[in-house]
Amino acid sequence: MHWPAEAIWEQVAPGLPGFTVEILSQIDSTNTELMRRARAGQAAPVLLVAERQTAGRGRLGRSWHSDTSGDHRTLAFSLGMALAPADWSGLSLAVGVSLARSLHPSLKLKWPNDIWLGDRKLAGILIETAQVGVQRYAVVGVGINIEPVPAEGLRTPPAALAELLPAATAASVLEQVVAPLVRDVLAFEHQLFAPLRPAFTARDHLLGRAVECSDGTVGTAGGVDEAGALLVHTASGPLKIRSAEVSVRPATPTDSP
Ligand code: BTN
Repeated sequence: MHWPAEAIWEQVAPGLPGFTVEILSQIDSTNTELMRRARAGQAAPVLLVAERQTAGRGRLGRSWHSDTSGDHRTLAFSLGMALAPADWSGLSLAVGVSLARSLHPSLKLKWPNDIWLGDRKLAGILIETAQVGVQRYAVVGVGINIEPVPAEGLRTPPAALAELLPAATAASVLEQVVAPLVRDVLAFEHQLFAPLRPAFTARDHLLGRAVECSDGTVGTAGGVDEAGALLVHTASGPLKIRSAEVSVRPATPTDSP
């Protein structure tokens, strides 16, 4: 596959000095690699793309299937850059908004940052940070299903972007999303999540739905606040969920009142 490394570099480098683009045929995980580099003291901004990940990681310790034997059915990349926002909460939502906006008007966001097509997950985001000297280095990992991927062991079979954009390839999608993503992450550093809240709300997949959280809370999702916390109306009153360690999913119909 021909990757648009140079075109992306030309779009991004003027606003992000020192930026480089690296394409690898295989790695355990692009996030793991950038976290290893950060712990070894490397804090330069970089886009790391892997054609194949042998140990892709998802949120909450889950694995992320992207061992597609080089047939590019998924796009897997991580963007690493030093960042100093006054408040980190909301970054993952900002990344979700940026990607959904770049990809397609009909995509929804499931708090905190999954991208859904209808009732199926299309893309996932894993954000990690490491201290490098006096700076905090953020690793924004993104996995997008381009063509249908195997669904073994998953409650809901994943969606694929090719359902909406039949001509989409991993390379074309990468070129479509990276420059706006860098711009949006840099804007987040200064403006935080608040300016993106209306855009999140417009795509909020959970809004008004009965939800159940991994900590046992059940209620109705009531949108997000200025910092990106999820509001859940429960029988005992409103509750704000800030921690991305809590997973939230639409309740099954039998769970609804
Ligand atoms: C999730 O939905 O749980 C997050 C999935 C994130 C997957 C991407 S693929 C590129 C980067 N490298 C990883 O190991 N994970 C992220």
